[in-house]
Amino acid sequence: MTTQTAAHPTSVDLPDPAVTNDTPAPSGVLPAARPGNADPRRAIAFMNQKGGVGKTTTTVNLGAGLARLGQRVLLIDLDPQAHLTLHLGIEPDDLDASVYDLLTDDRTPLDDVTHKVGKNLWVVPAQVSLAGAEAELAPKLIDGRAQRVLEHKLADDKIAGFDYVMLDCPPSLGLLTVNALTFADEVVVPMQSHFLSLQGLSKLLETVQLIRGAFNPDLTVTGMVLCMHNAQTILATEVSADLEAFLESARLADVPWRDARVLKPTVRRNIKLAECPSFGQPIFDYAPSCAGAEDYEALARALDATRVTSAG
Ligand SMILES: Nc1ncnc2c1ncn2[C@@H]1O[C@H](COP(=O)(O)OP(=O)(O)OP(=O)(O)O)[C@@H](O)[C@H]1O
Ligand SMILES: [Mg+2]
Repeated sequence: MTTQTAAHPTSVDLPDPAVTNDTPAPSGVLPAARPGNADPRRAIAFMNQKGGVGKTTTTVNLGAGLARLGQRVLLIDLDPQAHLTLHLGIEPDDLDASVYDLLTDDRTPLDDVTHKVGKNLWVVPAQVSLAGAEAELAPKLIDGRAQRVLEHKLADDKIAGFDYVMLDCPPSLGLLTVNALTFADEVVVPMQSHFLSLQGLSKLLETVQLIRGAFNPDLTVTGMVLCMHNAQTILATEVSADLEAFLESARLADVPWRDARVLKPTVRRNIKLAECPSFGQPIFDYAPSCAGAEDYEALARALDATRVTSAG
């Protein structure tokens, strides 16, 4: 069960008796499905095994941007560093339960680890204990249960009230990232326009291909977000042209990235984006008129506009 502190805003919707059992009342925080909502829910894994490329910044601010557009967004922190959790103003050490419990304890339902952190915005936080989850799940690898535990916990009825579920992956291709890919419909790759970024991309795409083959036949790569981008430099322009050419070369291939795009706009380097995590706020609350807010708002609109085509 989750203890909410004053620092963790949460909704006070009535708890669902079906999931309380004999545990203390959960936060009852999950939204109900919208009646007649025909749009499919999108689950997007933000992944890149390279560290420090903008995964967390993009998951938080794109998620907050979509929430501002009226979409109901659940963010899931799958990184033991808990950066997404901190970015949303939740102190991991104050939590009684987190995504670790969701993944490793059959008795912990999604409701117990979900916090409402803003209008239309919810989060499943992480703690450093998440680093132990991979080892705990290892015995279940052989029959494929370890790879599907997140999918199992986020059963459709639990997440029916969300329009987007966005997963912030750790900088590795281990079991936590595999769980994100097994559950997700789509992959978005935050990356920087550096020469070495393209090298890591082939390994990343190979992993997506493997998971699609073994666990998730509908998994697709929606695109890349170029983070901390400086369009003025020759290197950034060249890397982005190489990336576009690589994606074009895959248009007729039977690969999960055949429809992938470099998502627009690219996100400019902006100091406010680097500052806002330490204030526990998305960019729209911290500095609503800065370039970073402008870029993530436009990116949220662009991603939302691809709703029907990329989910179908
Ligand atoms: N557009 C930007 N402009 C300036 N700083 C940025 C921008 N995007 C991200 N940053 C900063 O760069 C650093 C790395 O970003 P972030 O934490 O989002 O990367 P990450 O891929 O999630 O890292 P990790 O692999 O460690 O999880 C952070 O300090 C973040 O605040
Ligand atoms: Mg991160």
